[in-house]
Amino acid sequence: MKRTYMMAGNWKMNKTTTEAVVLSQRISNHREDTWGTEVEVVLCPPFIDLKSVRNVLEFDHASIALGAQNVHWADNGAFTGEISPVMLKEVGCSYCIIGHSERREMFGETDETVNRKAKALFAHGIVPILCCGETAQTRDEGKTNEFVCGQIEAGLAGIDASDAGKIVIAYEPIWAIGTGRVPTPEAADEVCGAIRATIASLYSPQLAEGIRILYGGSMKPENAAFFLPMPNIDGGLIGGAALDADSFRDLVNACLV
Ligand code: PGA
Repeated sequence: MKRTYMMAGNWKMNKTTTEAVVLSQRISNHREDTWGTEVEVVLCPPFIDLKSVRNVLEFDHASIALGAQNVHWADNGAFTGEISPVMLKEVGCSYCIIGHSERREMFGETDETVNRKAKALFAHGIVPILCCGETAQTRDEGKTNEFVCGQIEAGLAGIDASDAGKIVIAYEPIWAIGTGRVPTPEAADEVCGAIRATIASLYSPQLAEGIRILYGGSMKPENAAFFLPMPNIDGGLIGGAALDADSFRDLVNACLV
């Protein structure tokens, strides 16, 4: 089954609103006509920039989707500092990253909260980009697949097939994020294959075949061409290289060759 590549930019805590407008305009100006059909492009700026980036993309009819980097699972209420799926929906988000390792490590995100967030997003028609990935220690202990597939199983608990079939997974080895170190494409593909097999056993092989699994962790224009042809890798979740319009364009276009 042919899956449509996805290239998603995770801007993390970078770009003021003014800078976000400039970057999204540059990315939009650089785009090819086939963006949006042959490769799905997603920008995930900080919450405060979502509206301005949406306005740029809408004005340009850019066929670039908007995503958030986090969400709370409740629709509203006394949760100081949080943002709800209802708010993300209204501002125009189609996607939302959940369970990024930075949130798991620094902000107490757990498999349980990731699962609650996934359910809340689906309830509001927003597709989760569910992140998973192992530490260097887990890899050294030979427990990568067990650990990563456990994160996926926990993240999908209680989610039925009609929703699960839409999810996007991002496999991001923690030791590769922002470090310039990458696994071999074969090693990354092996984990993505194990994730796909887990989804097949939870749901069905057909459903698993349709799911997009992105690789993330120091993906750059220089190495993308090695990862993208791998059978279980369907695109990238990009941090550092997504902050530069030329690099991001090259990464998106690497999906077109
Ligand atoms: P990186 O980040 O591309 O800067 O390694 C990827 C991510 O954390 O999503």
